[in-house]
Amino acid sequence: MSSQNIYILGIESSCDDTAASVIHNGKILSNIIASQKIHEEYGGVVPELASRAHQQNIVPVVNQAIKQANITKEQLHAIAFTRGPGLMGSLLVGTSFAKSLAMGLNIPLIDVNHMQAHILAHFIDEKGFNKPPFPFLAMTISGGHTQIVEVSNHFDMKVIGETIDDAVGEAYDKSGKVLGLGYPAGPEIDKRAQLGNPKAFKFTKPKVDGLNFSFSGLKTAILYFIQKETKANPNFIKENINDICASIQYTIIGILIDKLKLASKQTGIKHIAIGGGVSANSGIRQALKAGENKFGWTTYVPKFEFTTDNAAMIAIVGYLKYLENNFSEQNITASARLKI
Ligand code: KG4
Ligand code: ZN
Repeated sequence: MSSQNIYILGIESSCDDTAASVIHNGKILSNIIASQKIHEEYGGVVPELASRAHQQNIVPVVNQAIKQANITKEQLHAIAFTRGPGLMGSLLVGTSFAKSLAMGLNIPLIDVNHMQAHILAHFIDEKGFNKPPFPFLAMTISGGHTQIVEVSNHFDMKVIGETIDDAVGEAYDKSGKVLGLGYPAGPEIDKRAQLGNPKAFKFTKPKVDGLNFSFSGLKTAILYFIQKETKANPNFIKENINDICASIQYTIIGILIDKLKLASKQTGIKHIAIGGGVSANSGIRQALKAGENKFGWTTYVPKFEFTTDNAAMIAIVGYLKYLENNFSEQNITASARLKI
């Protein structure tokens, strides 16, 4: 199989990043992302603006991905694109573009599930990164998702836990808003958390049965706590920002690790992989490392550029599906609520 020379173009446009990547067999040749700065001033993604920015960005991003891979578009074997889940207006741009390009080049079209792609990013060939063996547990944590998935094979996955309200990244971003930090606030809270005392303030963990998550109560608890404290001392945030961030982070990471422990216990699986933007978090990385000693886990964290939304993860799924001759029809449509 590896003697074949397969080039696949991956296109991702599910949220606010327009991305394109070329993969040669399992190895990434280019991974281009145009992030949309426009949403920062609104403190969150504005769907209408996202879809318009995708339209502006998609042609230059794809051209750059092909150029950087040092190939011509005629060398491509297939076009893989994100079908869903995501924002409909955003998905439509990538889907329509991928369909037209595949038709123009007369090559197969491959639809990709964004949530599967976050997990299968672990199968990109990358020096210094091991691929998890089946079965493994994957926890996908980002601004849009929080899931624990039991992965029995590349395309045999079962969601065994997920958030019933906000995603974990949203919990970071919304807490950051209360604290007057910029958007997205996750990286800033993480940075400050490392300078503060995680036990300075206590936030109650939500009680959710089984492997599901809930983060909306925590966000409200933080809001009320800050409102109460700043009433007593208007400088409360300024004087305690590092301790507040450390305490928020301690609570959130505690919630994630508790559920992972339960998932590992219930399934008997000790290989644990993470993905999504929150995988960059120093607290989750430390907690996973600690889990290796404490619970006998083997943990997998992909290279940073493959954890946030990117097209390399779409390209690797395209490659894996190509090997199985698993192609899409030209009448396929985007699906905002696509499930794993
Ligand atoms: O995967 P991603 O780039 O986009 C999607 O949401 O799909 O993830 C972005 C999210 C944001 O909520 C951001 O605040 C969070 O990931 N994030 C972090 C860190 N870096 C990014 N959260 C906590 N700690 C970090 N170091
Ligand atoms: Zn994502």
